[in-house]
Amino acid sequence: MTLPPGPRLPGPVQTALWVGRPVELMDRCARRYGPIFTLRPLGIGAAVFIADPAAIKQVFTADPNVMRAGESNAFMEPVVGNRSILVLDGSEHLRQRRLLLPPFHGERMQSYGELIADVAERDVAEWPLGEPFAVRPRTQAITLQVIMRAVFGVTDEERLAELGARLTTWMDTGSGRARWVATLIPALQRSFGSERSPWSQFVSARDAVDELVYDEIARRREDAGLAERDDILSLLLQARDEDGEPMSDSELRDELMTLLVAGHETTASALAWAFELLVRNPSALERLERELAAGEDAYLDAVIRETLRLRPVLPIVGRTLSEPFDLAGWELPAGAMVAPCIHLVHRRPDLYAEPERFRPERFLDAQPDSYAWLPFGGSVRRCIGASFAMFEMTVVIPAVLRRLRLRPVGRRPERMRRRAITFVPEHDALVVAARRTTALGHKRVPAAAVAA
Ligand code: HEM
Repeated sequence: MTLPPGPRLPGPVQTALWVGRPVELMDRCARRYGPIFTLRPLGIGAAVFIADPAAIKQVFTADPNVMRAGESNAFMEPVVGNRSILVLDGSEHLRQRRLLLPPFHGERMQSYGELIADVAERDVAEWPLGEPFAVRPRTQAITLQVIMRAVFGVTDEERLAELGARLTTWMDTGSGRARWVATLIPALQRSFGSERSPWSQFVSARDAVDELVYDEIARRREDAGLAERDDILSLLLQARDEDGEPMSDSELRDELMTLLVAGHETTASALAWAFELLVRNPSALERLERELAAGEDAYLDAVIRETLRLRPVLPIVGRTLSEPFDLAGWELPAGAMVAPCIHLVHRRPDLYAEPERFRPERFLDAQPDSYAWLPFGGSVRRCIGASFAMFEMTVVIPAVLRRLRLRPVGRRPERMRRRAITFVPEHDALVVAARRTTALGHKRVPAAAVAA
């Protein structure tokens, strides 16, 4: 069996580059070896990166029992738990997916519109004026509030503050600049005899979150008004699988953590990128403001799609092969990981004219192809929060622009840097904001949910 070509650098060097310089590594390999190449980071063996839509189609339409996403995602188990949809494969994965999908149906999103608009407006009212500040921590505060309210269904302000504080502490232990390396690598998942080791701190912060989450699940089970509630936890509590079985407490905990982890930093980063790209492209920003003022959502939708094309939050999705697989003429061995490369396929000049330019217009008349535009992955593993994320962006971006005029800081666009597994702007999207004096009279919540 032969693997596609790739750099001959030793495993530790490839790992260091994948962690510290992922964009340069992917770009260089694509230039040198073409759209299908092999990397060998430590702990993974062979990872076959794919930037060819036909080969990506082969991956997404193959038997999911052969293309095992859960196995590729196993490194997230300490965070999301072993019952999470992310780390399961086969029938267990399908069971969780059937239980989780209904609350995320496109039309349901509408019911969260007012909630998202309230959270965004309240936060934007506190954004500093006339001095540089980073947008990403602000969008992250917004998406965290949205998840806690819309997904967990917490409304009591004191509990929200406590849950928010514990979640933030926990996520900082897991995704701070270097700490995530220490918490995601199995060999380092030990206390080393110290309560101050990264792993010990991670575990105690996780226990503190779990305590509140299990308490919330127990309270909700007792809630006489459960049937009338529309938050996602309440819907999941009422969901039944094909055998009529409800989800257990530990399944619910793991799925809540999954929705938090999968849905919160990702959407926050996508929003930060949208503002970074808009302030660097004044004509696009002006057109967006004009169209929003006229009550038009089409350009906003194109801005969101173009942001997710040019700055995809996740650079790859992974599948581990359970048996040999013939991919585009290569006979790949069982155990290899195949990785449709979102970052590279989104930059192919044959698919996107002037791929490095931010041109939302390209999405105005054309719907993107599923194997050429894949910010949410694909197959039976496609992101279940895609509509939710796009809808949240559709509400938050106008909420900011209605109140503020934004301008960039510095002349150079921000590069992509890694934060745990997501790509964020290197300076977290620095901008200067000024109060808008002329009204941008756009409706708070768009009439129709965006079909992602
Ligand atoms: C802009 C924001 C987001 C991006 C870019 C994003 C991207 C992704 C990607 C690339 C995957 C992997 C798909 C694959 O393996 O083919 C994924 C999976 C997933 N996402 Fe998202 N996501 C976002 C927001 C959300 C939100 C808001 C939620 C829920 C609240 C969510 C929940 C999930 C779940 C549960 C999965 C696992 C699906 C499965 O394994 O069957 N995501 N997402």
